[in-house]
Amino acid sequence: MVKIISVVGARPNFMKAAPVMRALREQMECELRLVHTDQHYDDKLSAVFFDELGLPRPDIHLGVGSGSHAWQTAEIMVRLEKVLEEAKPSLVLVYGDVNSTLATSVVAAKMNIPVAHVEAGLRSFDRTMPEELNRIVTDHLCEYLFTTEPSARKNLLKEGIPEEKIFFVGNVMVDTLLEHRARAQKINSSQKLGLSPRGYALLTLHRPSNVDVRETLEGIMEAVSEIAKELPVVFPCHPRTRPHLNSLLAKLNGPNGMNENRVIITDPLGYLEFLSLMIDARLVLTDSGGIQEETTVLGIPCLTLRDNTERPVTIELGTNVLVGNSRERILAAAKKALTSRLSEGRVPDLWDGKAAERIARTLANHLP
Ligand code: UD1
Repeated sequence: MVKIISVVGARPNFMKAAPVMRALREQMECELRLVHTDQHYDDKLSAVFFDELGLPRPDIHLGVGSGSHAWQTAEIMVRLEKVLEEAKPSLVLVYGDVNSTLATSVVAAKMNIPVAHVEAGLRSFDRTMPEELNRIVTDHLCEYLFTTEPSARKNLLKEGIPEEKIFFVGNVMVDTLLEHRARAQKINSSQKLGLSPRGYALLTLHRPSNVDVRETLEGIMEAVSEIAKELPVVFPCHPRTRPHLNSLLAKLNGPNGMNENRVIITDPLGYLEFLSLMIDARLVLTDSGGIQEETTVLGIPCLTLRDNTERPVTIELGTNVLVGNSRERILAAAKKALTSRLSEGRVPDLWDGKAAERIARTLANHLP
């Protein structure tokens, strides 16, 4: 029987793996195992997603944890190699662009095990982003490249990847969103924070380029403090961002600064709680990749605090606008978003809740 190992490691992997694992179980005769590298290990970044999304418990935990890029990648490689040697899978599945994705692809490809990449071909053309390097290397090692949007196919072909390896299947993260949307709507997370639908903005920040340099984060938070005078801002704070933010809070909370009642900083939220907040937000400000896609599906205006995006379809068709990370540009864009009626955009092709089914069907047809 075909043996497939699916490898996840960090928060954005979990909502992608859940529908793919289920579709494989339903559509293929296969032995399916889940490996968690533990790149993310805190319950709020990991366990809560397994519970909410109905992901099976991992069969194997690699227990890697946090470290420098080289350390984390190397440690995943060393530990995963033993697992693959023993399991001898016919295929390894990887998701997205995190360090676990890169490490897994290198190990499996060197063992001549075919690798399938879910969310292949995205390019920001910004090689200072660790994720961009992860995406490029991963794609060039894979046999099956499952893409979410037309730009991905163009990027892969331009890089010389053979056409027969590329499969446009749509967006598995949207499968998860559509599946859980109604449930999330009922939670009314905004009410629990004393807010009303369309009566707040939602902020997330975790890119090293935005949060690791004190002056950059300070400029962003100054803009957020200004926006909060118009509209309360809910800010679920990523652990990477927390220490940098804490060191700024005394200053930001000073006279004329951020009013703590208007910028509501919370711990990282679970999938349903966060989706509920996104559904009811007036505006989303983010540097996340996935949230650019989710707001496009929900028709919620999204200001992306970056100079580039690897997901151009969210700008071409969706609700996303790139605004960079300077105080002035963020404020100008927020003002525009709050004073004029923005387009609700259009949902990109094949973001229809059936992407995982297409992946499973493709693999069923191609695997020996
Ligand atoms: C990682 C991914 C990024 C993704 C993000 C989603 C890479 C290169 N980066 O970034 O693409 O968008 O996940 O969240 O793979 N930490 C905890 N608890 C945890 C995990 C991490 O407190 O469970 C803290 C540690 O201080 C750690 C830091 O967060 O050093 C960064 O974690 P890491 O996994 O290296 O990168 P992220 O910034 O989370």
